[in-house]
Amino acid sequence: MTKVLVATEKPFAKVAVDGIRKVVEQSGFQLNLLEKYTDKTDLLKSVANVDALIIRSDKATKEVIDAGKNLKIIVRAGAGYDNIDLTAATAKGIVVMNTPGQNSNAVAELAIGMMVFMARGNFKGVPGTELKGKKLGIHAYGYVGKAVAVIAKGFGMQVFTFDPFISKELIEKDGVKALNSAEELYKTCNYISVHIPSNEKTKNSINFDLLSKMPKGAILVNTARKEVICEDSLKQMFAEREDFKYITDIAPNCHSELLKFEKRYFATPKKQGAETSEANINAGIAAANQIVGFLKTGNRNFQVNK
Ligand code: 3PG
Repeated sequence: MTKVLVATEKPFAKVAVDGIRKVVEQSGFQLNLLEKYTDKTDLLKSVANVDALIIRSDKATKEVIDAGKNLKIIVRAGAGYDNIDLTAATAKGIVVMNTPGQNSNAVAELAIGMMVFMARGNFKGVPGTELKGKKLGIHAYGYVGKAVAVIAKGFGMQVFTFDPFISKELIEKDGVKALNSAEELYKTCNYISVHIPSNEKTKNSINFDLLSKMPKGAILVNTARKEVICEDSLKQMFAEREDFKYITDIAPNCHSELLKFEKRYFATPKKQGAETSEANINAGIAAANQIVGFLKTGNRNFQVNK
């Protein structure tokens, strides 16, 4: 029997698992569940005899991929697939997909919530400022960036973006101003919301040169990946710019060093951007449907290792 493994260190909401199970079992496949595992060997054992794998930020390393002797497809129920060794998967003919857009609203709502939290002095009962009228720079205009723009406009923010992969015409149809460079974006905006993926080109790309262009009192919001921000530059910004604030859903490696800036720095204890029932249901069920589509009819829509 065809087996689908859901392996999630950070489990989906039960309602999402029920939905995934329904899709898998109605297709005549078997669902195996490995949740909250703490030891990599549990994943290595569980993946050994399955045909398909659904993961979240779980690391699908070469070791995991090699252990999956029958693996034909891995679906990352979410957007970023920097946790999957694409080279190893491709070498073994394993199809890798993500589920773009399925959890983006949850992440966008968190990004906006983080802006309000910082604007209101970390909810400590102190006077603050409003988002209305402020300039928001969305760094990359993908599914999450677009969702952030929609909400920000509702708050009355002026919305800007820089995304070299999307035409200015398409962006400006949404009432968002497309700028020519990341430098221009960081220089222009009071708030920057980071939505670039983590890859060889983007790692450490948000550096001091870029950050130091931000205007006085600027707030940087990161719900994307910690790796895209150069940590030495971040530390330099905190040391040299008393007005600079940073809030993130992915604590940097230098987290403990930044804790002393408690009024200007905040990190969630655990990444929670996509931690809503709705996002879990959307991404989890989309992943299950994509697996069924691929195994039954060869549908490769959303394949990322072409
Ligand atoms: C994503 O890339 O989809 C988000 O970062 C969410 O990741 P998660 O599924 O691990 O919460």
